[in-house]
Amino acid sequence: MNNNLVSASILSADMLNLESEIRELEKAGVNMLHFDVMDGVFVNNITFGLPVLEQINKIVSPYMELDVHLMISDPLKYIREFDRAGADIITFHIESESDTMETIRAIQQTEAVASIALKPDTPAESVFPYMEYLSMVLVMTVEPGFGGQKFMDMSDKIRKIRRYADENCLEIDIQVDGGINDKTAETVKKAGANVLVSGSYLFKADDMKKAVETLRA
Ligand code: DX5
Ligand code: ZN
Repeated sequence: MNNNLVSASILSADMLNLESEIRELEKAGVNMLHFDVMDGVFVNNITFGLPVLEQINKIVSPYMELDVHLMISDPLKYIREFDRAGADIITFHIESESDTMETIRAIQQTEAVASIALKPDTPAESVFPYMEYLSMVLVMTVEPGFGGQKFMDMSDKIRKIRRYADENCLEIDIQVDGGINDKTAETVKKAGANVLVSGSYLFKADDMKKAVETLRA
């Protein structure tokens, strides 16, 4: 069974035509819409936030999950708001200031599911104590902050997380984010990742549907 999923990062979308970009993604068969929130403190960039997500939630197909990636220093403070704005999955960074377990509990009190992201230098083992409470772990394959960066091979980390999940009978998604294209997708899937975030590769593709199928294959 192939349970690979594609999450399109709208950081690479044409912001002036976001609705038609979302319709293209739906037509191309993308499974999730990846929404990168940056606060200019946790990372050196500022993107978009709650009001934009609320508007997207009004028009997006119910089949497309809203996959929110919080690159902010105090995610705990905003969990309820992101749930209310329509998030289906809330990913926060283990390196953030918020208490990890408290943030997981806050997400569990909403309709969204919880996920933890690890920056490239953060070891796999740091997420093990929390994995039984998570539906997904996000292994960053670039330093968070910008789209269009070069892929960093995190195969060892992905394998360790997949092995820990298997050994403990945990059904968990492993998401990868940063520099994913037709070639790097092979590498991460072989290591055990099954949710592929893609921004620049998808939006630059001549045939987006084909690109989605290649990533998911
Ligand atoms: C980077 C973001 C990514 C980014 C991916 O910090 O978290 O989601 O948009 O973009 P590409 O696929 O272009 O690397
Ligand atoms: Zn992201």
